[in-house]
Amino acid sequence: MKTSHTVVTSDARELHTVVEDSVELVVTSPPYPMIEMWDDLFTTLNPETGTHLENESGDKAFESMHAELDTVWNELSRVLVDGGIACINIGDATRKLGDEFRVYQNHARIITGMVNAGFSPLPEILWRKPTNSGAKFMGSGMLPPNAYVTLEHEYILVFRNGVESRHFEPKSEDRYAASYFWEERNTWFSDVWTDVNGELQSLDAETGARDRSAAYPFEIPYRLINMYSVYGDTVLDPFWGTGTTSLAAIVAGRSSIGYELDDELVTAFKSQLDGVQDFSQQVSTQRIQDHVAFVNERRADGGSFEYTADAYNVPVITSQEQQFQLYHPTTVTEPEPGSGRGDEREFTVTHEPFTTEHTDSLEKEPGENTDTTLTDF
Ligand SMILES: C[S@@+](CC[C@H](N)C(=O)[O-])C[C@H]1O[C@@H](n2cnc3c(N)ncnc32)[C@H](O)[C@@H]1O
Repeated sequence: MKTSHTVVTSDARELHTVVEDSVELVVTSPPYPMIEMWDDLFTTLNPETGTHLENESGDKAFESMHAELDTVWNELSRVLVDGGIACINIGDATRKLGDEFRVYQNHARIITGMVNAGFSPLPEILWRKPTNSGAKFMGSGMLPPNAYVTLEHEYILVFRNGVESRHFEPKSEDRYAASYFWEERNTWFSDVWTDVNGELQSLDAETGARDRSAAYPFEIPYRLINMYSVYGDTVLDPFWGTGTTSLAAIVAGRSSIGYELDDELVTAFKSQLDGVQDFSQQVSTQRIQDHVAFVNERRADGGSFEYTADAYNVPVITSQEQQFQLYHPTTVTEPEPGSGRGDEREFTVTHEPFTTEHTDSLEKEPGENTDTTLTDF
């Protein structure tokens, strides 16, 4: 299997290289309006925003920042297939401008922008960021009534492009092979995620990219890609940053397209690509091992299994999981300097089926629980 991963260093308000109805999923996290680190960027996109901030007009600054994001949401409805899903990770902002301290509800304003662009909102996910214990309440004291609640969650807003869901041929191989385990479904399709750790991907500190990246945890795009796309699909991230979405697409065996204004972040992405084979092996091995642990636990509780996921010879709960198949990236080809259009770089990845042999080395780590090897089944 081959996938392609294109990075375009250009403004996502016009997705000029992406043709109509050509991507099946959007996974992204925009710059957060009213969070100070993005003030300069929003002012570059629209100088009026800077004036509103200087005048301490919070409402107007908030609205003019969102007006720029709205142009991207409109582009998404053009390039996404009918029924394709768009997932937008966003946090609200608390800020004091002039005398007024308040919350700016980015999630609510994005829902309005997406509905205006023709999307149907679907049930959303809240994910809980790891907390810093008591330090988060510093300065709030113990006296009512003037303290504020600390925001420790972000939203993953989920939308469908248009009214109808995507259609597939009965027994579509790309769809059935992309199935997830029953117990993964139970966690992933819950409305609150408390098990995502907020660690940044490793970045080259020398480029200063980490400070600007605001990367989301790998687990977020990885889950969303598995939840909302099938093999053969292309995932678009219009606010690509360090390319966490593309990294997740490579591990999940999907193609990707990213738009990003900051060219330096592509360097950060390249350094992550160096270790993608090992990283992917760890992710896939963990999924299989977690499943084996689930099987053992359920059996210990007296449960039984009717079906088998043939590629891994592990018991599964439903017939839909029988063709479950993970892929492993084997080679990554970087674009030749000067190839492609000026602002476009395309990485090509070949994948082979991920087999139980890939898990062997990790299962034999000293001290690890060897009760749960795949060969037991
Ligand atoms: C919150 S960060 C995304 C981080 C990304 N999810 C990751 O894991 O690295 C938003 C990114 O959008 C980029 N950006 C902002 N406005 C843009 C625009 N109009 N077109 C393209 N990229 C933009 C910023 O440079 C920044 O890297």
